[in-house]
Amino acid sequence: MLRRLHSEQPEGFAFTPENQKWAEAQITKYPEGRQASAIIPLLWRAQEQEGWLTRAAIEHVAQMLDMAYIRALEVATFYFMFQLQPVGTVAHIQICGTTSCMICGAEDLVAVCRDKIAKRPHQVSADGKFSWEEVECLGACANAPMAQIGKDYYEDLTAESFARLLDDMAAGKVPTPGPQNGRFASEPLGGVTTLADFTGEDQNASVALADRLGDTLKRIDGTEVPVTTPWLGVAEIKPVDAATIKAHEPKPAMVTPVDDTGVSRQEACDKNIAKPEAVAKGAEDAGPGTRPEMLKKAKGKADDLKKIKGVGPKLEKLLNALGVHHYWQIASWGDEEVAWVDDNLEGFRGRVSRDDWVTQAKALAGDGKADKTGRK
Ligand code: FES
Repeated sequence: MLRRLHSEQPEGFAFTPENQKWAEAQITKYPEGRQASAIIPLLWRAQEQEGWLTRAAIEHVAQMLDMAYIRALEVATFYFMFQLQPVGTVAHIQICGTTSCMICGAEDLVAVCRDKIAKRPHQVSADGKFSWEEVECLGACANAPMAQIGKDYYEDLTAESFARLLDDMAAGKVPTPGPQNGRFASEPLGGVTTLADFTGEDQNASVALADRLGDTLKRIDGTEVPVTTPWLGVAEIKPVDAATIKAHEPKPAMVTPVDDTGVSRQEACDKNIAKPEAVAKGAEDAGPGTRPEMLKKAKGKADDLKKIKGVGPKLEKLLNALGVHHYWQIASWGDEEVAWVDDNLEGFRGRVSRDDWVTQAKALAGDGKADKTGRK
């Protein structure tokens, strides 16, 4: 489906003061330099405010996030959750038309849309209240057929129950989302067959939350943003301030320095500048196991450690940096040595035991006949 900006666009866009504040608070959730990650929530809020995404709104969000307009446009045109043309003032209905829903009656729901809203998808109804479209699977296949309206799912629909929903919405009511046939969630139609004695809530968690927020059909101007996050039991949502972010920044101590330059073992490996003695110095034996015999350099020609299944070029470099160059070295490791190496392979922890390097190395070192030190 072609997703293009609408031919008629408003002059400009501005968040309401409350939504602007909300948007700025969202941006603070992301680390310095990663603000662009807030693109989806900000575009979504712009859409919640206006009903659809205008070019000016996309530009405004791109500017707030200091990103190129084309990148924001790419996001807006990629996801069909974003409406790129005017929608009904009450609701835009998204009917799932994929396999389960199609088999269970999605076409009947589309017929209701054509009858009650408009003949064509994305066409606003004569009274301006509704619009509709068919979309791909929305992941509620067990409750087919279904429709998404705003951020909520209306499931287990029939042509009759769906028509009733539209009538209720047109009359200014906000119908309760979730299964419309009395099901709690996606248990069998004939009733639960397991956990039958469960006497839980009246509504499943998603319906209960939607009911509590009550914003399915509203435009969101920010003044009605809920102040509770029931799933966290937190009393109030507060924007994260700079001091809190600073307090949660990773501590420098989390990087193990290799030498006086402060280069970490992983960085050293990546740049192929590791010094075995420096690594050994940095890798103080605080962790499990016993450090095996390491060599500053290979004795003669180094073995091709990549012949060990699970060892690639990067891991081979790391092993060399640690002081491992020969099959016989690995073949000589006991449980304690394996534990030490497993713990010191930054980025590849646990690979020695996972891929049983010792057995492999014994075979490579000489059909399993390595002596006590592993030497043939
Ligand atoms: S097929 Fe309709 S929700 Fe998956």
